Amino acid sequence: MRSKLVKILVSILAVILLGSCDNKHQRAVRSPEFVFFYAENQDKDYPTTLGGYKFSELVEERSKGRIKIIVQPDSTLGCEKEVMEQLQFGGIDFARISLSTLAESVPQFHVLQMPYLYTSSEHMWKVLDGEIGDNFMKSLEGSNMVALSWYDAGARNFYNSVRPIHSLEDMKGLKIRVQESTLMVHMVEALGAKAVPLVYSDVYSGLQRGTIDGAENNWPSYESTNHYKVAKYYTIDEHTRVPELQLCAQATWNKLSAEDREMIQACAKESALYERTLWIEREKQSKERLSQSKVEVIELLPEEKARFQQAVKKVYEIYCADYMDMINAIIVEGR
Ligand code: GCU
Repeated sequence: MRSKLVKILVSILAVILLGSCDNKHQRAVRSPEFVFFYAENQDKDYPTTLGGYKFSELVEERSKGRIKIIVQPDSTLGCEKEVMEQLQFGGIDFARISLSTLAESVPQFHVLQMPYLYTSSEHMWKVLDGEIGDNFMKSLEGSNMVALSWYDAGARNFYNSVRPIHSLEDMKGLKIRVQESTLMVHMVEALGAKAVPLVYSDVYSGLQRGTIDGAENNWPSYESTNHYKVAKYYTIDEHTRVPELQLCAQATWNKLSAEDREMIQACAKESALYERTLWIEREKQSKERLSQSKVEVIELLPEEKARFQQAVKKVYEIYCADYMDMINAIIVEGR
C-alpha cells in the first residue's frame, strides 16, 4: 500500500515537473528574442503603413517568431522630426521617414527631392533602384541610421482654400504650409508664397482656423487627412517627388547577427515592392474619391509650369552647388 502511494506521488510530481519543463520550452519557442518598435506617421490604411505591416509580418515569419516588430501608425511615437532624432540614439528601432525630414540631418539627401527634378515616376524609380539610389543609401553610414529600402510617396501638388492657382501670380502672398524643411521653405518662397513650416498632424486645424491658406502634398495624403474638405483648390504642378526611406537605428542594427541583418534587409525590400503597388492603387482611389467631392482640380498649363520651374532655379544654387554632377546624372537617367 505504502509503495503504491509513493509510486502515485512520484508520478504526480513527474507530471508536474514535465509539464513545467514543457511550458518553459513552449515559452522559449513562442516568446521573441527581440521586440522592436516601428514608427509611421500615416494612418493604419495608408500604403506606407500597410508596407510597414508587411515588413513586420515577413520578419516575424522568417525569424520564426524570434523577431517581432510592432508598427505604430498615426505618429503615436512622435512626429517625423522627433522620430528621426530618436532613431539616431536608438530610442526607436525602425521608421519610415520622408526625405524632407531626413535631409535636415543628412543634407546630401536634398539632391533626391529637388523641385521639378524628375520627369515621371519611372524616372525617379530608375534613379533610386540604380547605382545612384544605392550610393545614397550607403551614404547614411556614420549617421547612426541604416537605410533599408525606398518607399513611394508620389508627386506633390499645391492646394489652398483661397483661390485656384493657375499661374505664378496666383501663388503670391498665400500662406503655404511646408514640411519642417529649409529646402521646402526656400522653394515655396521662390514661387512667391509665404512658407509656414508645420508638423503634418497640425495642418488640418491650421487650414480650418485659417492660420495657413494651403499646403502641398500627394493625392493620398490630401485625401486621407481630409485636407480637401477645408482647402478645395488642388493644382497639379508635381513640383516635387519626395521619396521615403525605411530606416533602422544603428543601435538596433548593432544588436543583430549578420544573418538577421540580411534577412531584415530582404524583408524591407520586399515590403517596399508591395508598397509601390499599393501606392499606385491608392493614388487612383484617392483621385476617384475626390472627384465625387467639391474639390476643384487645376492642371497647370505647360507654359505656366515652365515659369514655376524657372522660379525655383535659385533653390538649386543654394542646395546643389556642390552636387551639380549628381543632379546632372539624375537628369540624364530621365532621357
Ligand atoms: C507625406 C509623407 C509624410 C510626411 C507628409 C508631410 O504625406 O508621407 O511622411 O510627413 O508628407 O507633408 O509632412
